[in-house]
Amino acid sequence: MKGVLLAGGTGSRLHPLTRITNKHLLPIYDRPMIAYAVEALVKAGISEIMVVTGGTHAGEFLRLLSNGEQHGVDRLCYAYQDRPGGIAEALGLAERFVGDDPVLVMLADNVFGRSIRPTVEAFGTQRIGARIVLAPVAEPEHLRHLGVPELTDDGKVVRIVEKPTDPPSNYCVTGVYCYDPSVFSVISTLEPSGRGELEITDVNNHYVDKGLMSYDVLDGFWGDAGESIDAYYTVNDHVRRQGVNLD
Ligand code: G1P
Repeated sequence: MKGVLLAGGTGSRLHPLTRITNKHLLPIYDRPMIAYAVEALVKAGISEIMVVTGGTHAGEFLRLLSNGEQHGVDRLCYAYQDRPGGIAEALGLAERFVGDDPVLVMLADNVFGRSIRPTVEAFGTQRIGARIVLAPVAEPEHLRHLGVPELTDDGKVVRIVEKPTDPPSNYCVTGVYCYDPSVFSVISTLEPSGRGELEITDVNNHYVDKGLMSYDVLDGFWGDAGESIDAYYTVNDHVRRQGVNLD
């Protein structure tokens, strides 16, 4: 399985910090944010990784991660996103790197308390379609900033709503997605959303509609360090006190 780490975007929710650097290079406890995402993939057994980034600080990722050896990566590739066009557009840049393999995509500002290895292993058995990781989120106000699944009583995903005014469940879709290689033909059919981006939620709803979407419910901490300055510090506190990517 290949890994794609998405580390682009303008990081506007963390301005002015992100006016002078890329969000994924900001410190989380004792390392730049991207290092935790690389660690998450390596600990899950993924050792061929592409980092997709953009903007004026792309070179710093090479300086930090180099060829990946010191981070346990066998093959580290980079792609450059000319303009922030959304998560799905960024993933599209990894098409040739992924080839005919299954792929795990991770938003590099997402931080997980426990290893994501169980999801990788489950998708290794599933092989076809897509698999996401849901996290319980109690506060509707928080859910309004995320992707939220509508679930049937027996737990099937009916659809995923991006940034819902009226959240249809108390779960959010975290930034870890597994796809079979058909994902690139799905991306090529997408139209930009109201915010002018190719949305990963539209990709996911394609698999929901086809009955090919599975999910895991997260066990332990999850945080999106890029969501707000408060979320950034919540993630920092958690990492400092309890660590992340634990087996
Ligand atoms: C993105 C996804 C959203 C998901 C979130 C997790 O949101 O679009 O569905 O819940 O990541 O971090 P964004 O960070 O682009 O607002």
